[in-house]
Amino acid sequence: MTETAAVTDTPAARPTPKLPDSAKVLSVKHWTDKLFSFRVERPQSLRFRSGEFVMIGLMQDPDPKTGKQKPLLRAYSIASPNWDEEMEFYSIKVQDGPLTSRLQHIQPGDEIILRPKPVGTLVTDALLPGKRLWMFATGTGIAPFASLIRDPEVYEKFEEVILMHTCREVGELEYGRQLVEDVNADEMLSEIVNGKLRYYPTTTREDFHKMGRVTDNLSSGKVFKDLGIEPMNPEMDRGMVCGNLAFNKDIMVILDGFGLREGANSDPKEYVVEKAFVD
Ligand SMILES: Cc1cc2nc3c(=O)[nH]c(=O)nc-3n(C[C@H](O)[C@H](O)[C@H](O)COP(=O)(O)OP(=O)(O)OC[C@H]3O[C@@H](n4cnc5c(N)ncnc54)[C@H](O)[C@@H]3O)c2cc1C
Ligand SMILES: NC(=O)c1ccc[n+]([C@@H]2O[C@H](COP(=O)([O-])OP(=O)(O)OC[C@H]3O[C@@H](n4cnc5c(N)ncnc54)[C@H](OP(=O)(O)O)[C@@H]3O)[C@@H](O)[C@H]2O)c1
Repeated sequence: MTETAAVTDTPAARPTPKLPDSAKVLSVKHWTDKLFSFRVERPQSLRFRSGEFVMIGLMQDPDPKTGKQKPLLRAYSIASPNWDEEMEFYSIKVQDGPLTSRLQHIQPGDEIILRPKPVGTLVTDALLPGKRLWMFATGTGIAPFASLIRDPEVYEKFEEVILMHTCREVGELEYGRQLVEDVNADEMLSEIVNGKLRYYPTTTREDFHKMGRVTDNLSSGKVFKDLGIEPMNPEMDRGMVCGNLAFNKDIMVILDGFGLREGANSDPKEYVVEKAFVD
């Protein structure tokens, strides 16, 4: 299919004028009626650290008076690892969301805007050396960890990597479940991961074999018991948090309670936090 032929009359696919920051969509996968992932061509010069985010978007409709088009951009975690030749994103579909009401209709061959300025705190450089790396995510907050759990450097730096992901419903866990399965099945990655990746998915509003909020499972000690490990301590454990604002606030109190301190790129400590979206 040619690039022109792929530009259909779907709302998202209104032709994006050729921009220096455009990236061609290679594939799209819909996971639920509210979640999808897609892969785009990676600009050759774009370097990033696994866990960082960039601004992506589409052109707005032309101004009726001037005919001019402005870009509509949103922050997105890069879900692919830094060695990948393509870039992957994992996205919510907000019904009336200015960007995602259109972005959810992208098709292979369409172009999106991708500003090549990666930033973010969910990087291993912002953490002091430790033995266990915990990744705490709700909803699409798993996106930066989709990048990190595919990065060999993470397993060189940590003896154990524990991914806790909580969603309302079972179907919303599928992207993460398949990702972990793929990591463990990948010929090269599985050798590096070598059983170090532990996955702890839970739901809160639909029956599943493991249930409960990340925060409750940490406070009650259930997750430590289930995994057969010692509770968290600041000598051994490092954390990365990505969820809604209330979740981030609640889990910070818990991590502080275990004696861990929040760090940043400029001041590495025991855990780092990023919002999965702005409410
Ligand atoms: C640092 C950072 C990284 C982000 N990374 C991602 C990502 O990897 N994937 C992603 O889907 N979104 C991500 N977001 C959110 C993203 O920037 C947009 O808000 C989202 O794409 C919706 O855009 P919109 O224009 O359709 O609606 P907006 O006007 O931006 O949002 C409308 C409302 O939808 C809800 N909402 C927005 N995003 C989400 C979400 N991800 N999950 C649940 N509810 C949401 C909120 O209630 C918000 O007020 C990130 C945000 C930040 C700050
Ligand atoms: N996903 C849906 O089916 C759905 C349906 C209607 C509307 N929406 C709207 O879409 C937006 C995002 O929904 P979402 O489901 O992706 O994300 P979300 O509301 O952030 O929920 C994701 C997961 O995080 C948990 N959580 C929320 N606050 C928490 C906290 N303070 N501490 C610990 N865990 C917490 C939720 O548990 P709890 O279930 O216990 O809250 C849920 O399991 C919200 O604004 C929501 O109102 C979503």
